[in-house]
Amino acid sequence: MSALIETSHLTKIYGSGETAVRALDDVSVTVQPGEFVAIMGPSGCGKSTLLNLLGALDLPTAGEVRIAGENLARLKDIDRFRARTVGFIFQLHNLIPTLTAAENVEVPMYGQGSDGRERKQRAAHLLHLVGLGERLQATPGQLSGGQRQRVAVARALANSPAILLADEPTGSLDSQSGEEILALLDELNREQGVTIVVVTHDRRVAQSTRRILRMRDGRIVDDHLLSDPYEEDLRTLAASRLGQALMGHNELHADYLNEAEKTVLVQVLDRIHKP
Ligand SMILES: Nc1ncnc2c1ncn2[C@@H]1O[C@H](COP(=O)(O)OP(=O)(O)O)[C@@H](O)[C@H]1O
Ligand SMILES: [Mg+2]
Repeated sequence: MSALIETSHLTKIYGSGETAVRALDDVSVTVQPGEFVAIMGPSGCGKSTLLNLLGALDLPTAGEVRIAGENLARLKDIDRFRARTVGFIFQLHNLIPTLTAAENVEVPMYGQGSDGRERKQRAAHLLHLVGLGERLQATPGQLSGGQRQRVAVARALANSPAILLADEPTGSLDSQSGEEILALLDELNREQGVTIVVVTHDRRVAQSTRRILRMRDGRIVDDHLLSDPYEEDLRTLAASRLGQALMGHNELHADYLNEAEKTVLVQVLDRIHKP
């Protein structure tokens, strides 16, 4: 499988001379189609800088970004490429206050070759998808924070991007609305196959993703794949003496079990007995 996002030796330095800030330092990372990745790390470690470079909102000082094999630095029409390939969600939704929810969702569709009727239909479809099918004509001021962020998600999906980049999308929301946005991203990833990279401080957000990149001082210091807890239990079981015994590699003696193995056994049996 070829990578959807690939950076090599990506470096970003803001300013020059004594005031220069090395916001990103030699970052090489790949993301496969369909992944749901969280970027975590302390404030100022370069998370937004990385996200902006992935979405071609800014240019690197050195190194390169490839999206679906295309080197962003070599693209002739970067605006068109960005509009079609990536959707952005920011901490503050940036909706246009004088436009309705539907009109806000239509904004990125202009210049992409669709006519007015198609734009309206697609905006309605996307707002249904994010659970706002009844609020097409509401302006941002008439919506709650969580609903506004849903509109922003729908807008980010306007041109069916392969990649959704979200920079602290739950950062300005109460925890209930945050969880709803999260569930929505999860659904988009699982059901529509959208590849998502989300910057977050929120542990809950990170836990609902399947991979966590931890950054510090402009570098990726940890790249951790999260597997299904059930699979993790089975793996632990398979590696245990009990697992070995069940698989016929060993003779089973109850006193072989340590506490951790007993716990796993109870959990697994519990799951097996549940429908
Ligand atoms: N436009 C800019 N000009 C100068 N320095 C910047 C700019 N944007 C970010 N920085 C600096 O780069 C570093 C990384 O910033 P950022 O990527 O926004 O971090 P994070 O999103 O992890 O909080 C910080 O030290 C920040 O002050
Ligand atoms: Mg940031």
